[in-house]
Amino acid sequence: MTMSSTLQTAQINLPKDFIDLGRGDPGLDLLPLGLLRDAAAHRLNHSDNEILQYGAERGDGYFRDALAKFLSIRYGFSVSRDDLFVTSGISAGLDLLCTLLTKPGDTILVEEPSYFLALQIFADHGLNVVSINTDESGLVVEDLIRALKESRPKFLYVIPTFQNPSGHTLSQERRDEIVNLAKKHGFLILADEVYHLLSYTQTPPVSFGTYIDSEHVVSLGSFSKILAPGLRLGWLHAHPALIQRLSTCGLLNSGGGMNPFTSAVVRSLIEKGDLDKNIAHLIDMYSKRMQSTERSLRTHLRAAEFSTPHGGYFFWVRLPGINAGELREKAQEYRVGLRQGLLFSSQNGLSDFFRLSISFYDVNEIEQGIMRLKKCIDEK
Ligand SMILES: Cc1ncc(COP(=O)(O)O)c(C=O)c1O
Repeated sequence: MTMSSTLQTAQINLPKDFIDLGRGDPGLDLLPLGLLRDAAAHRLNHSDNEILQYGAERGDGYFRDALAKFLSIRYGFSVSRDDLFVTSGISAGLDLLCTLLTKPGDTILVEEPSYFLALQIFADHGLNVVSINTDESGLVVEDLIRALKESRPKFLYVIPTFQNPSGHTLSQERRDEIVNLAKKHGFLILADEVYHLLSYTQTPPVSFGTYIDSEHVVSLGSFSKILAPGLRLGWLHAHPALIQRLSTCGLLNSGGGMNPFTSAVVRSLIEKGDLDKNIAHLIDMYSKRMQSTERSLRTHLRAAEFSTPHGGYFFWVRLPGINAGELREKAQEYRVGLRQGLLFSSQNGLSDFFRLSISFYDVNEIEQGIMRLKKCIDEK
């Protein structure tokens, strides 16, 4: 007997009238089909069929050039195309770095809490994960120093800006200290900067790309949150020596560089100025959602402890005395979802925290979801 699969395009397919406030993907209304249609038409009208060829290992040079110009303006310092390597998203970038730089059993450091699906990638590679505590200003440097006395990590994985799930941003002072520790102890920093360009109320410290001369830092960027995750397109920003090392592996020798066709289309979109337009639109929408979600939480979940992030997607909420895993189960009956803190913990902790996202639903749906959650908690 053959098993038939569901006819499904998107990764998550929820029943109608379920509001999953845990999901961290952009709402369909924010995915710019029109901009991509124009960009694809523009690119396909050039009669350059090289975009259908196996691509250059480190990524299409014209695309890297357009991306470098875009990032130089956005970051406020000069980014060279020679320091960029095209990936099919941060997830693929992390996986490639783990493949090439680690072996099973190696120790790596992560934040507590950290992005749960990155933790899964590290588990796929059999890595020994040690977590470092964080506070409102990000990774606690004293804890990092303590961990470095006990282990020699291959890398430290951090989400420095508008962190997933906490929404916190690593302070400038701590960034400098961490980079100095990386140089002293010889480990690499993998800075996942997926939310860096989505700032609403405060400009974050400059991208970790500013530190790449030290050869101890890789900044990972993505189009998933600033354009569309289905494009599977991102980049590594690193020292050319490291890029050279990444570019000569079996995966790229056999398959060529990642996503040459999509890169060529997105190049048109960047050059037309449409990426800037799209980011401005997202910032407008998301900042309104941040404000209204804050209001809804304060109105309906009075016991909730949280701080409103200055950018990104996530509210990291604590309800003292509540087991968020049990709450998630019970909340199903009320047709509302969340992500329990335990998922993001490498210490089996954070059980009274949960993550809510502003990315998928509009302000009314978010408020509706929070009211359902309140009902669920009240009737528990
Ligand atoms: C911190 C973080 N890193 C990486 C990703 C995935 O990025 P990509 O789609 O580029 O693989 C996400 C998506 O939710 C994320 O929150």
